[in-house]
Amino acid sequence: MNLPNLKEAKKRENSPVETFDARNIKSDKFEGKYFYLRTYGCQMNVHDSEEIKGILSNLGFRQTDDYEKAHLIVMNTCAIRENAHDKVFGFLGRVKHLKKDKPDLIVCVGGCMTQEENVAETLKNKYPFVDIVFGTHNINDLGKLILEHQNKQDIEVYSIEGNIYENIEYKRDSKYTAWVNIMYGCDKFCTYCIVPYTRGKQRSRKMEDILDEVKDLKKAGYLEVTLLGQNVNAYGKDLSDGRDFATLLEEVAKIGIPRIRFVTSHPWDFTEEMIDVISKYDNIMPYIHLPLQSGSSRILKLMGRRYTKEEYLELFNKIKEAIPGVSITTDIIVGFPNETDEDFDETLDVVNKCQFDGAFTFIYSPREGTPAALIKDNISMEVKEERLQKLNKIINDYSLMHNKEYEGKTVKVLVTGMSEKGENKVCGYTETMKLVNIDGALNDIGKIIDVEISSAKSFSLDGKKVTFVNN
Ligand code: 5AD
Ligand code: SF4
Repeated sequence: MNLPNLKEAKKRENSPVETFDARNIKSDKFEGKYFYLRTYGCQMNVHDSEEIKGILSNLGFRQTDDYEKAHLIVMNTCAIRENAHDKVFGFLGRVKHLKKDKPDLIVCVGGCMTQEENVAETLKNKYPFVDIVFGTHNINDLGKLILEHQNKQDIEVYSIEGNIYENIEYKRDSKYTAWVNIMYGCDKFCTYCIVPYTRGKQRSRKMEDILDEVKDLKKAGYLEVTLLGQNVNAYGKDLSDGRDFATLLEEVAKIGIPRIRFVTSHPWDFTEEMIDVISKYDNIMPYIHLPLQSGSSRILKLMGRRYTKEEYLELFNKIKEAIPGVSITTDIIVGFPNETDEDFDETLDVVNKCQFDGAFTFIYSPREGTPAALIKDNISMEVKEERLQKLNKIINDYSLMHNKEYEGKTVKVLVTGMSEKGENKVCGYTETMKLVNIDGALNDIGKIIDVEISSAKSFSLDGKKVTFVNN
C-alpha cells in the first residue's frame, strides 16, 4: 500500500525524469467481460481515460455505457473544486448497492482526487468495497493491479511524480481528432490550484517523441491534433535542449495535419515567437484559450498569477492584432478571498474590453493544501453567486455577439459526429472552435466541409452544407 502525502509531493525531489516504454500488458483473462468508465474533469483526464481504455482493452474487456452491466468500474476523478468530490462520492454510493448484488464486481478509483492527502485513506476506511485505488503518476500500473487483484484492497498512489511513459496504447475516442500530451504537471503554483500537487512538477516529453506520435496520427488519417498540457507554453522549460513551445508548435505544424490546436496557455509564458508561429501557419487554428482568472491586479497578485491587468490586456491586444479572426476564450474565478466589489468591477472591465468569445466561469473553492486555503474564505456564497450570474450574463452576450458575426458566412467545419439537435443533423467545429449543428451532411462525418451559417445562438451555430456546382 502506498498513500499520497502532499508534503512529500511538495518537496519536489530533483530526481531526473526518465522515459520508459509503457508496459502495455496483454492478457485474455477478462475476455467477454465489460468495463464501465466514468471520467470527471478536464481534457487531461479525458485523455488519461483513453489510456485507461487501452489498458482495459488489452486485458480483454469491452466497454459498456451501462454501469449495472459492468464487471469492472473505473472512476477517473477530478480535484479542481469541491463539487468534483461530491459527484464522485455520490456515484460511489450507487456502486456500493450494485456491489451487494455483484460481489465479484471490481471497483477502481483513480485520477487527481486520489492524489490528494487523506482521500486514499478515506476510501480505504469508509469505502471498503473499492478494490483498487491508483493515482495520476501510476495509471500505467492499472493493468498489473487488476490482473494481480486478490480480493483485498490495493492502494498504489505515488506521491512523487513519476516518469514519462512512451508508446502508450491509447484507445482514442475519435478517429478524426486526437489529443497529444506534450507535458505533464505544472510548476506555476497559482495559490488556489491543486493541480501542481495532484499532477506533480512539470515534465515535458522529448520533442522527437511528440513529433513521432503526431506523424503516426497523420498516417492514421487524423485531421486534427490538440497539444495538451496544463500550461503548454511553458513546454521545454524543464528540458536542457533549449527548445520551447514555439519551436515545437512549428515542427508539429510542418508535419501537415490540417488542424493543430493547443490547450492551455498561461499568459505569463506567452511569447512573441509563439504569436509569430501561429500567424505563419494556416494549419495552426486561430483559437486561443487564455485564462484571465481575475481582472484585478491586486487579486491576481494574491492568486500568484505573475501578470497585472494591464499586462494581460497588452498581450490580448497583441494576439488580436497579429492573428486576424482569432477567437479567444478564458477562465475566470469569482469570490477569491478578499475580492471586493471594486476588484470584481475590474474583472468586468477586462471582460468588456476583451469581449471574449467565451469563458468558463467558476466560484472559488478552497482546496486543502493550497496557499489560498489558508486565507479566510470570507465572501458569502450569496455574493459569489450574484457575481457569477452577473458575469455570465455579460459573457453570454459577448458570445452571442461574436456568433452573430458568422450569420450568412461560409466557414470550414470539421464534422465530428451526429448532432444532439435532431435527426439528420451532424455537428462539428469551426477553425475558431465554434460548435456548428449542420443539416444534410450525414456522409460527411470525418471530413472538413464548407458550411453556410444560417443562425447563431450563444453556445452554437446552425448551418447548411455548401455544395459547389462546377459549370
Ligand atoms: N476554485 C475555483 N476554480 C478553480 N480553478 C482552478 N482551481 C480553482 C479553485 N480552487 C479554475 C481555474 C482554472 C480552471 C481549470 O479551473 O479557472 O483555469
Ligand atoms: Fe493550476 Fe495555475 Fe498550473 Fe493552471 S497554471 S494548472 S491554474 S497552477
